[in-house]
Amino acid sequence: MNEILEALEHKRHAARMGGGQRRIDAQHAKGKLTARERLELLLDEGSFEEYDMFVEHTCADFGMADQKIPGDGVVTGQGTINGRLVYVFSKDFTVFGGSLSKAHASKIVKVQQAAARNGAPVIGLFDAGGARIQEGVDSLAGYADIFMENVLSSGVIPQISVIMGPCAGGDVYSPALTDFIFMVKDTSYMFVTGPDVVKTVTNETVTAEELGGAKIHAQKSGVVDGAFENDFEAMAQIRRLVDFLPASNREKPPVRPTFDEPERIEMSLDSLIPANPNQPYDMKELIEKTVDEGDFFEIGRDFGKNIICGFARMEGAPVGIVANQPMSLAGVLDIDASRKAARFVRFCDCFGIPIITFVDVPGFMPGTRQEQGALIKHGAKLLFAYAEATVPKVTVITRKAYGGAYDVMSSKHLRGDVNYAWPTAEIAVMGAKGAVEIIFRADIGDPDAIAARTAEYQERFANPFVAASRGYIDEVIMPHSTRRRVVKALRTLRGKAVSNPWKKHDNIPL
Ligand code: HXC
Repeated sequence: MNEILEALEHKRHAARMGGGQRRIDAQHAKGKLTARERLELLLDEGSFEEYDMFVEHTCADFGMADQKIPGDGVVTGQGTINGRLVYVFSKDFTVFGGSLSKAHASKIVKVQQAAARNGAPVIGLFDAGGARIQEGVDSLAGYADIFMENVLSSGVIPQISVIMGPCAGGDVYSPALTDFIFMVKDTSYMFVTGPDVVKTVTNETVTAEELGGAKIHAQKSGVVDGAFENDFEAMAQIRRLVDFLPASNREKPPVRPTFDEPERIEMSLDSLIPANPNQPYDMKELIEKTVDEGDFFEIGRDFGKNIICGFARMEGAPVGIVANQPMSLAGVLDIDASRKAARFVRFCDCFGIPIITFVDVPGFMPGTRQEQGALIKHGAKLLFAYAEATVPKVTVITRKAYGGAYDVMSSKHLRGDVNYAWPTAEIAVMGAKGAVEIIFRADIGDPDAIAARTAEYQERFANPFVAASRGYIDEVIMPHSTRRRVVKALRTLRGKAVSNPWKKHDNIPL
């Protein structure tokens, strides 16, 4: 019996060593942790239960029959994060560069299917060289199997990807199908084709970092939702994110105790809006002063900064926050902001997370770059996302709500449930100056007439009362009571039941 147990332990040890000490040392020398070390940080201590530790590839070509490493380049299984079940896979770069064989793919698919069946998030940690070149089409088949599960699980369970090393080919498309992607600065990059292929095809010389580093994807392309300093920070932040999410679309988001008074008054908010309507202020101050304990997990912080998205809690229950940011491009809606917020709103709606929208928006961004870049289509995404969302929607207009952007930002007309405005709100088709220059074009040569018309327009529309008189705004509230009012609104919406007409699926403008 002892011999059998020893043989098992021996096999387990071999699997735990992955590609061997030399490659583990190389991994550490690059500032990266190993697949198992990452899981230790991600999961509650002692909670990891590994599956398929002894799975090996079945390839016999190119001398592969003699090169078998138990586990075959991916560590899979289940564990808990703050006591809640999650399924995980973690690519082991020390084994064939984490590349994907058919056997490796089957391990991932097993975890994906278990997660979907049992209603728990899947977290994938990526550090991999793409398709296992020696396996050819079997590897491509394996990727497609994973993609298929990604798509079937979309909107059913939260799927999170963390890019922690090189990722190319198939290892970027699976993350792209998941709900959130994060990267680690300096040690990770992701692209469909690497610098060598780029050079051959387009004759461009580019480094991996320039092509697909964390900075590029977190700030420019918007492919990823955040970049972390190192593996340690990445794992700690993913734990934090998971705490906000329901385990599946069959469950309510997790409520946790809070010590923050629901009735808390924030007098400082009464002076948040500057006297000059063109002067910016930091919308994050409002968010942090409204939500429980000022705890806000931002999604896509460095991309489309003119809109803020992220998770917080009210009375301990998760909420999604969407807010125009006057500090960046005056909070205008452009392509990036629309894309970013549309995806976030849809995530919240999939998983029953109420949405609080803080509005200060001067409109959609004008210009050829925006129009030629399909602002119409991208702006429509956000409009569509808000309109179809059936989760509780609470809106607070702090200052500008102009034009189409007023409609888009969770207005009453798109089934906003409770729509508040601060007394400083200006709800109009456009700002006074622009409006007067159009409707009183004949007076343009007469500055006094224009000034009088502008003042008249300002007086008539630069307030929330016209909209309130029509019932488009439910109540004009004092800024200092924002938390109290939003809490109250969310309480009344706990039993909300609304559904959209039957359809196979919608046709959101992609
Ligand atoms: C098999 C691979 C491999 C792969 C790396 N290795 N990539 N083995 N298939 N795709 C092995 C190497 O032979 C090496 O083995 C070890 O992993 C580490 O690789 P290095 O090159 O030494 O590491 P590094 O210098 O850090 O470079 C990492 C890398 C590079 C950038 C990922 O290895 C690379 O470019 N690999 C190929 C990437 C690629 O083109 N993949 C196919 C994409 S197409 P030893 O034994 O020396 O440790 C694709 C199709 C799917 O994925 C598309 C679906 C939509």
